[in-house]
Amino acid sequence: EKAGFPHFMLKEIYEQPEAIRDTLRGRLNPETGEVDLSDAELSPEFFEGLERIFIVACGTSYHAGLVGKYLFEKWAGIPVEVDLASEFRYRDVLINDRTLAIFISQSGETADTLAGLRLAKELSARVLAICNVLGSTIAREAHRVIYTHAGPEIGVASTKAFTSQLTIFLLLTLYMGRLTGRLTLERAMELSGELVELPEKVNLVIKAVHPVLKELSEKYFRQEDFLYLGRNILYPVALEGALKLKEISYIHAEGYAAGEMKHGPIALIEENVPTVALAPKEGGITYEKMLSNIEEVRSRRGPVIGFGTEGDAHLANLVTDFVGLPEVSWEVSPILYTVPLQLLAYEIAVKRGCDVDQPRNLAKSVTVE
Ligand code: M6R
Repeated sequence: EKAGFPHFMLKEIYEQPEAIRDTLRGRLNPETGEVDLSDAELSPEFFEGLERIFIVACGTSYHAGLVGKYLFEKWAGIPVEVDLASEFRYRDVLINDRTLAIFISQSGETADTLAGLRLAKELSARVLAICNVLGSTIAREAHRVIYTHAGPEIGVASTKAFTSQLTIFLLLTLYMGRLTGRLTLERAMELSGELVELPEKVNLVIKAVHPVLKELSEKYFRQEDFLYLGRNILYPVALEGALKLKEISYIHAEGYAAGEMKHGPIALIEENVPTVALAPKEGGITYEKMLSNIEEVRSRRGPVIGFGTEGDAHLANLVTDFVGLPEVSWEVSPILYTVPLQLLAYEIAVKRGCDVDQPRNLAKSVTVE
């Protein structure tokens, strides 16, 4: 049932093009840039008069929520707060009927996320769930549910469910962005064109970078500490990359917003602490800032694995190891930059002899607090 792959995790990484395609299917009209979410019984009224959005989840799903904040605030123009479900449920949240509360859960059974959902309902928010498991508790209790069509995810480390959640956020961005009018028709058309091409792009990236990362993992798998740095919409991707590495390889890995380096983590840098840096050229001002952060790490003899735009000679010269990815828009970059980080974590964990599908102390579905 692993279809020839040594682990479910690798199979699921390779299934991402299909998972993204299935999640988009029937919901996107690339001719018009229009998004149809009627399968989730969503219509413009559900979004009318919204003042605030909450996104609530745990673990990897929480990281998807963080990406959602960057997308929604830019294109829907509505303030977004992202919360860990375990924090959300025990604080005094300010919610009313003009609040949209989005709960993200692959399994649809996570205890804290479910408790948060019940609280938001009680406080009269409009409650939308993003789930992968059909008919799960969170899916059933929400006012509306949008399913990711990632198919069953067996590996404890979430991979294809995450990129499918990001795909849903892109669909919602197109939908809300057009409703509020902040997203021009032209940009919506461009973005939907990119979404249609995304599965094939992800497929090409997997094929191209897997051998590269396999080789790189030889060099790095004995290290015990890693730092992951990103900025803006790739900051949550840095968090997700670090989580992936720590949960399956038991290596201490921390994700940081690169701008926070000077406020503490730079003290850790030395030749045995590699940094994974996400620095696509398309990042504009944040690209320049990433370059200076990378220089700061290099000048302290820290090795840097730099992920950036193919052909970026400047970045390639700056870092210890360079991995190039195709050019991509800001909105879609989290999906593309996640894939190599999954493969890096996987290859390192395998070399360390870890049980990648069933890491110690972890369960696929966390149904108790
Ligand atoms: O099923 P959920 O999306 O609610 O699960 C949330 C987390 O438990 C989950 O993402 C966890 O962090 C994974 N092990 C990450 O790979």
